[in-house]
Amino acid sequence: MVRVQDIASESKDTIPDEFVRLESEQPAATTVRGVTLEVPVIDVSDPDVDKVRKLIVAASKEWGMYQIVNHGIPPPLIAELQSVGRQFFELPQEEKEAYAKPAGAKSVEGYGTFLQKEVAGKKGWVDHLFHKVWPPSAINYRFWPRNPPSYRAVNEEYTKQLHGVVNKLYDSLSLGLGLNAGELREALGGDELVYLMKINYYPPCPRPDLALGVVAHTDMSSLTILVPNDVQGLQACRDGQWYDVKYIPNALVIHIGDQMEIVSNGIYKSVLHRTTVNKDKTRMSWPVFLEPPADHVVGPHPKLVGDKNPAKYKTKKFGDYCYCKLNKIPQ
Ligand code: SIN
Ligand code: FE2
Repeated sequence: MVRVQDIASESKDTIPDEFVRLESEQPAATTVRGVTLEVPVIDVSDPDVDKVRKLIVAASKEWGMYQIVNHGIPPPLIAELQSVGRQFFELPQEEKEAYAKPAGAKSVEGYGTFLQKEVAGKKGWVDHLFHKVWPPSAINYRFWPRNPPSYRAVNEEYTKQLHGVVNKLYDSLSLGLGLNAGELREALGGDELVYLMKINYYPPCPRPDLALGVVAHTDMSSLTILVPNDVQGLQACRDGQWYDVKYIPNALVIHIGDQMEIVSNGIYKSVLHRTTVNKDKTRMSWPVFLEPPADHVVGPHPKLVGDKNPAKYKTKKFGDYCYCKLNKIPQ
């Protein structure tokens, strides 16, 4: 399997054709310049919990993307998460291939490239590693790097620290819909809710004006909690235009995903986003997707639909939703 990392190491001034986006997508042609989108930045340590909750709810309705600061996950732990992930991607290629997603496997877990079938056969300038980090019964350590040796302990500690953030977000979003605090989490899988870690590795690209990292998409998850490195690259679509999203050290970037839009019957909006790449630097990001188990049925919450509020989305198993989306079958 050819990885983007190999292609990047051989590309000096040009890139293979399949990485050159259609003009309608090329970042140089489609990014609003000179403006960094200031998505809401929410200080979740503010003792005024009502205020924090309202800010989370408003940002989830109006933006679908925001950043939280003072979230309680220690910056040195975030730095370690980044360091062990980077060390994995810097291993010799054949060592990484031991973690490759097996051909034909149903699960996305493993080291890989080119996840989605893309329009016009185009490819994103990115390799990735997926592995579940929660719940313990869903973890397959075969896909967790054994090198560097601290990889596992660091990922376990990050996951442990993430629970507080996850529960706070779900509770706030639940209350924001007029539900009881735990109801949204329950509707999305309860204790079976899966935390799926992804590492995106975007090698330097000689033509960042023409290529994209991850193509425009909304996340299939309910929520995504993401840590980027310090190389600018995340873009969000706002009123039909693409903007760079400001990088804030140690912030967690929150995306509302499709399952949250569905369960809230459209009150919370999943956000269209994409990533650009850098000429000289490697960009990396660590999204954790909070997803229902594949056989868990998700639809507009029964308390949110009625005669005046018909369901705007179908109710279906999360696994079926993903199958349709990845194969471009209408939902
Ligand atoms: C993604 O949306 O999958 C990646 C986002 C990022 O790299 O910042
Ligand atoms: Fe995404």
